[in-house]
Amino acid sequence: MEASTNPPQPAPGRAAVIEISGLSTRFGDHVVHSGLDLEIRGGEIFALIGGSGSGKSTLLREMILLQQPDAGSIRVLGVDLHELSDQDALALRQRWGVMFQHGGLFGSLTVSENVGLPLREHTSLDAKLIDEIAAWKLSVSGLQPEVGAQFPSELSGGMMKRASLARALALDPELLFLDEPTAGLDPESAGEVDQLVRKLRDLFGLTIVMITHDLDLLWQLADRVAVLADGKVQGTGSMSELAQMDNPAVRKFFDGPRGRAAHDQSLVEPEAGARGTETFGSPPSKPK
Ligand SMILES: Nc1ncnc2c1ncn2[C@@H]1O[C@H](COP(=O)(O)OP(=O)(O)OP(=O)(O)O)[C@@H](O)[C@H]1O
Ligand SMILES: [Mg+2]
Repeated sequence: MEASTNPPQPAPGRAAVIEISGLSTRFGDHVVHSGLDLEIRGGEIFALIGGSGSGKSTLLREMILLQQPDAGSIRVLGVDLHELSDQDALALRQRWGVMFQHGGLFGSLTVSENVGLPLREHTSLDAKLIDEIAAWKLSVSGLQPEVGAQFPSELSGGMMKRASLARALALDPELLFLDEPTAGLDPESAGEVDQLVRKLRDLFGLTIVMITHDLDLLWQLADRVAVLADGKVQGTGSMSELAQMDNPAVRKFFDGPRGRAAHDQSLVEPEAGARGTETFGSPPSKPK
């Protein structure tokens, strides 16, 4: 992968695509988010990081209308998610794509049928056109046309991620959510996913929101990163900016061996195949 000497930056002043303010979420007595604020701008690759249980996936689910917060407001693509009508929710869902951590493909459908599913659900296009669009999305996602006829169980982990991405792209979304896009992939496949994500942003101007523990994605790809801890966003900025912050919750990610390894790694061009496997989802040396 290329070194990030000159990473693409979102244009200054770009409109916010996601605006979250005063968000609170709790499950029973367990407070997950408490007065959380976050802004994601158009065209940026934005990453959410935080320890296990810090509420990243919950936040993602709230952004895509799979879960309701207890308080606060979330605006996505200019639309307030609170008390949306079914019709407005349906319209909004067509403007984003989601790649779930484990692919979320239906095992009983071929890859092509999986990719075409959102088109069958949300458009009145005929079957032949849907197949053609599915083939095009598979190709954009770096899969050969014959993969379309295969079933998810026949795919490798990397192919599964690509097929899932192809499905997320089916409706030409403006916004793409990726949950751990490289988790479980070998270094080569993970590197290919990096390049694919960058290509999607650069070619189609997509805004990309990802949850990841992958240091390469964070240092090489993310324009900005938000650190979640104690119910709030503790810091937001490029990885280099975060690395300079004094906030103890942010420091936890950069002090200790994994954080240092990550930073050192960002300063040198990684050797081919030398993708980092370290993560810093939780502090390195503290036993649970
Ligand atoms: N439906 C639910 N019912 C009860 N508790 C939940 C529910 N969903 C999430 N939680 C709790 O909320 C907290 C945040 O969960 P979440 O899945 O958002 O964490 P996360 O930051 O994504 O963690 P990880 O890195 O391990 O995936 C956890 O303590 C979890 O147990
Ligand atoms: Mg999670």
